[in-house]
Order: sequence, then structure tokens, then C-alpha cells
Amino acid sequence: MGQVITLKVNGVLREVEVEPYELLADVLRDKLGYKGVKKGCWRGECGLCTIIMNGEAVKSCIILAVEADGAEIETVEGLARNGRLSPVQDAYVKNAGLQCGFCTPGFIMASEYIVRRNANREITPGEVRSALSGTICRCTGYKQIIDSVLEAHRRIKIVR
Ligand code: FES
Ligand code: FES
Repeated sequence: MGQVITLKVNGVLREVEVEPYELLADVLRDKLGYKGVKKGCWRGECGLCTIIMNGEAVKSCIILAVEADGAEIETVEGLARNGRLSPVQDAYVKNAGLQCGFCTPGFIMASEYIVRRNANREITPGEVRSALSGTICRCTGYKQIIDSVLEAHRRIKIVR
């Protein structure tokens, strides 16, 4: 039997009826229309469904929607402000950190988390590589992705 849950997605309260077995990734993408939540493996391996939930980067395909009741969620759709890309998004564009783009929302959200979490300290390419190891890209070189995260991190540090 369905249950109504409430999610705060990108600052907007959303109510949605879900079944006990429904995955958060499916609900966000297919019921609420956040198409930036991609799905590749449905078992926590590819990272394409990464979102930020209650301040932590998580893979939304391994979370039941009912478990997320009351959560604050950020998806890639919520990052741009007043028509301007976020520093992470902009750095991906400038460094050609994407090719087909299918994995990009997941990488952007994982990168956003890395940049925020390390805003007050230096990070090395190795740390970025390790932090992104749960996200898979089949066509861009990972170097451009890592360069994008490092550039966004440098910019955020300067702004602060
Ligand atoms: S679809 Fe969630 S990790 Fe692959
Ligand atoms: S840019 Fe194509 S899979 Fe990553």
C-alpha cells in the first residue's frame, strides 16, 4: 500500500505517494521529474544516481524512498543560481570534463560534495581521484574530471 512522503528537493517541499519497495532514484526521476538523477546499474556501483541528501553524497538507487521521508535533497537541477552555472558546473565546462554527458550529473553532485567538504583545506589530485572512485565514466578521460574538481575547489576557496 502506498505511503505519502515529504521531500525537500532543491529547497522546494514535494509530497509524493510511494510504494514500500520504490527506490529514491526512481521516485526522484520518474515521479518528481528530476531527470538529472540518472540510473545505470541500480546497485550502487556506477554513481550516476548520486545526489546530496541531508548534506551527504549518496547513491539514490540504494535508498528506499520511504527511508528518505523528511530529507533535504539536492540534485543537479538545483545548483545553478539566477541562470549562472555553479562553480563546479562551470569548471566542468571549462575543462571539458564531459563528453556524452550521461554520467555528468552524478559526477557533478559527487564533486560538489568534495568541494564543499574540503572548502577549508587543500586537496590533492589523489584525494579527488579516491573520492570519485565510486563514480564511473565510460567516455571522458578522468583527468579532465579531476582537473574540473580541483579548479572548482580553487575558485570556491578564493570566493570564501
Ligand atoms: S544507478 Fe545508482 S549507483 Fe548506479
Ligand atoms: S561523459 Fe559519457 S559516460 Fe561520462
